[in-house]
Amino acid sequence: MSTETVLHVGGASPYDVVVGHGLADRLPALLGESVERVAVLYAGSLGALADPIVDSLVEHYDVLALGLPEGERAKTAPVAADCWEALGEAGFTRSDAVVTVGGGSATDLGGFVAATWLRGVRVVHVPTTLLAMVDAAVGGKTGINTEAGKNLVGAFHEPSGVLCDLSLLESLPRDELVAGLGEVVKCGFIADPEILRLVESASPDDLVPSSPVLRELVERAIRVKIDVVVADLRETGGADGHPGREALNYGHTLAHAIERAEDYGIRHGEAVAIGCVYVAELAHRAGSLSAEVVERHRTAFGRVGLPTTYAGAPFDDLLATMRVDKKARGAQLRFVVLDDVGRPTVLAGPSEEHLREAFSAISGNPSS
Ligand code: GLY
Repeated sequence: MSTETVLHVGGASPYDVVVGHGLADRLPALLGESVERVAVLYAGSLGALADPIVDSLVEHYDVLALGLPEGERAKTAPVAADCWEALGEAGFTRSDAVVTVGGGSATDLGGFVAATWLRGVRVVHVPTTLLAMVDAAVGGKTGINTEAGKNLVGAFHEPSGVLCDLSLLESLPRDELVAGLGEVVKCGFIADPEILRLVESASPDDLVPSSPVLRELVERAIRVKIDVVVADLRETGGADGHPGREALNYGHTLAHAIERAEDYGIRHGEAVAIGCVYVAELAHRAGSLSAEVVERHRTAFGRVGLPTTYAGAPFDDLLATMRVDKKARGAQLRFVVLDDVGRPTVLAGPSEEHLREAFSAISGNPSS
């Protein structure tokens, strides 16, 4: 099959993100030589998908395989505590390592366990969803949820490596793959217009795991994420008016409110697509974004099969949630918006009139 691509993440704790097909035998090189024991924390629902990963490790290490609950149910303090217990019983030392295998929940929980065990051991992520490949696995954010909300407990803990094996996406349901493209298209708007050109000219056959077009989209989206996190790992802000890591939250403020209103019955990438169209409409009303680029949002997200309208929860409910969203700093609502493709900025305190008009434009409901 095709050769692998190595994307290097610089900064204080450099590591490589390897993209390709059939990469399990690359794991020992990413883990390093000092490691004796490896805990594989895998999404329990993966079944046989995690087997080649475990098989590639047992030749080199003492392997402890720990199945995790499905989805967000993995991201709890009791699950983290079970993992700590298991590492303790197996005698894990600071020179041992964690490998996560699964979607963003496995990455977040496993990264958190690695960040906290003995104040930090090595972790290599093997994401099995498109969403996790282009977002959660890169950049070192780890976390668990509490009763008060998502990701409220966590740590920045950069991995020692990330393996994006596109073959693992073969068994991903089509809707999940499409949802992952929401974050890819978002990366196109905030930083890489070539992603938009690829998407706009893609046929359905281009958007499958074996396609070189999908591979290029994944690599480009990961490059966008790498550039942003290397410039602003801890989300303290960018330079020259760039929002820094916060730019990755393009479309996410309304998306999070919609996810909550839908009781998480909508996929994250679908909500992000709607949220991006919303902030494009908002930026247009605030005078920063042209009507052409707003329309391009509808075309690009629509082209990959993502929703660009939303007529579910009433806007007042969504607005109330957005006001308590963690990105509402101080009393003002803040949105990452665009001045143009590739030029993100922050819009603080938009008028309620603009907020409502933008929602009307995506809901088709003039009374919203
Ligand atoms: N998922 C957004 C970030 O990593 O900052």
